[in-house]
Amino acid sequence: MSCSINPNRRKVKRNDPPGNIFLVGFMGSGKSTVGPIIASISSRGFIDTDALIERAEGVSIGQIIKAHGEPRFRALELKAIERACAMQNVVVSTGGGSVLDGENVFNMRNSGTVVWLNCPPEVIYERVKNDNSRPLLQVNDKLSTIREILSCRELIYRRAAHVIVNCESKKPFRIAREACNLVRQRRATQL
Ligand code: S3P
Repeated sequence: MSCSINPNRRKVKRNDPPGNIFLVGFMGSGKSTVGPIIASISSRGFIDTDALIERAEGVSIGQIIKAHGEPRFRALELKAIERACAMQNVVVSTGGGSVLDGENVFNMRNSGTVVWLNCPPEVIYERVKNDNSRPLLQVNDKLSTIREILSCRELIYRRAAHVIVNCESKKPFRIAREACNLVRQRRATQL
């Protein structure tokens, strides 16, 4: 996972108003793939909150959850998101469960534009079916689990987001362009 910061992060295009962009969405919805593309298009830095946590703790998210439980991970996630919100002009890829804590949603919405990458469960399944790194998906019936968790979270993502990009059948670059356009439109109405 990359958590590098783009050295050009302070260079903001004239028609691209400053402000952070937070990518939220289910595991496997493409946040870590699309995030660096959005960062490059919009001359922002890129960070990944899961990667921030892993770097700070020196172990994987899976190991944190296994050793200390999910609440400990969520507390670390809250701190990582607070740190990200204090930055300027960055694109932030967040963990799929970040929106479950209202404080994260409040902080992200106050620090920039929250973008939900909305992806259907079948697409997510195809991406994560052979991936054993996600602790919440270490189950026999991954597709049913994805459907179940997603249905619990769908409204939470929708309410957290300022803008929504429907990602089905779209390549990462197109998703990134759409996200940038929607963020720009939203910011233009605010300035
Ligand atoms: C989680 C998603 C993961 C990671 C953790 C919990 C979730 O991030 O934060 O395993 O609750 O959906 P990705 O969305 O990057 O997989």
